[in-house]
Amino acid sequence: MADLQARIEELWENRDGLSPADSEAVDAVHEAISLLDTGMARVAEVTPRGKVVVHQWLKQAILLLFRLSDMETMEVGPFEYADKVPLKSDFMTQGVRVVPGASARWGAFLDRGVILMPSYVNIGARVGSQTMVDTWATVGSCAQIGANVHLSGGVGIGGVLEPPQAAPVIIEDDCMIGSRCMVVNGARVRQGAVLGAGAILTPSIPVFDAETGEELERGVVPPWCVAVQSWVQKDYPGGTFGAPCILVIQRLEEGVRHGGSRLNEILREQNVSV
Ligand SMILES: CC(C)(COP(=O)(O)OP(=O)(O)OC[C@H]1O[C@@H](n2cnc3c(N)ncnc32)[C@H](O)[C@@H]1OP(=O)(O)O)[C@@H](O)C(=O)NCCC(=O)NCCS
Repeated sequence: MADLQARIEELWENRDGLSPADSEAVDAVHEAISLLDTGMARVAEVTPRGKVVVHQWLKQAILLLFRLSDMETMEVGPFEYADKVPLKSDFMTQGVRVVPGASARWGAFLDRGVILMPSYVNIGARVGSQTMVDTWATVGSCAQIGANVHLSGGVGIGGVLEPPQAAPVIIEDDCMIGSRCMVVNGARVRQGAVLGAGAILTPSIPVFDAETGEELERGVVPPWCVAVQSWVQKDYPGGTFGAPCILVIQRLEEGVRHGGSRLNEILREQNVSV
């Protein structure tokens, strides 16, 4: 993989002169995207010490893919699209359920047991096993979603391709992201956390502990807690206004999921089709 990384980095340095006719460059980039597509490589990962490591070269490969691909007409029955990147396919062998209306692009990895309700998963994203991506949820490019996560209806997980060193959104294992939440720009939801419906999380949003009043790390929902959208008073030259924040309203026992976040699990345990 080190050779491929060096090749992609070299192509990236010389990207201005590249075109879809450069077949060697196309082959190298396709090899890198196939690694993402099959889950053998990932754009970002969390180290055992909790640090996010971004593998820039894989993001560079995605950006190069757009430069090295021509637009093609794609037809699906009466539907027609025009794009450079094919859709992901062969879901049955991957053990993934994809409900009509859902689409995932080549270069996104969906682990076994993932369910895509009519939703969208972009290139470079990774969705962990048994995770449910509910109706109208969108998983942006390179976002890293853990295992046993529920992304509820209409959730917007932001994508980030450029700059290549920028950290993507990370939702860790066992999380529940409530309906219509927006998590963007490299914000992070730690393991087992529940984000109440309608919350907006970016790296600039302050996070407070409701019990102690302490301000926690911005843009990060701590592990095993319930956090909701709230407002904090802020003084501006023109007066005092409410500014958005995230409030941790409950700490959960480590390893024990919040009741409301187990819906997906319960349905699966009872063998109810979800
Ligand atoms: C955050 C959440 C998990 C809390 O559920 P809960 O633990 O049962 O807590 P409660 O409903 O008793 O609410 C606790 C407090 O948080 C507040 N709260 C609940 N949800 C909130 C939200 N989304 N935003 C802001 N405050 C919220 C409540 O007003 C309540 O305040 P109170 O103690 O003063 O009465 C739940 O409200 C939620 O948003 N779940 C996600 C629902 C969803 O998106 N489902 C999709 C299924 S497909």
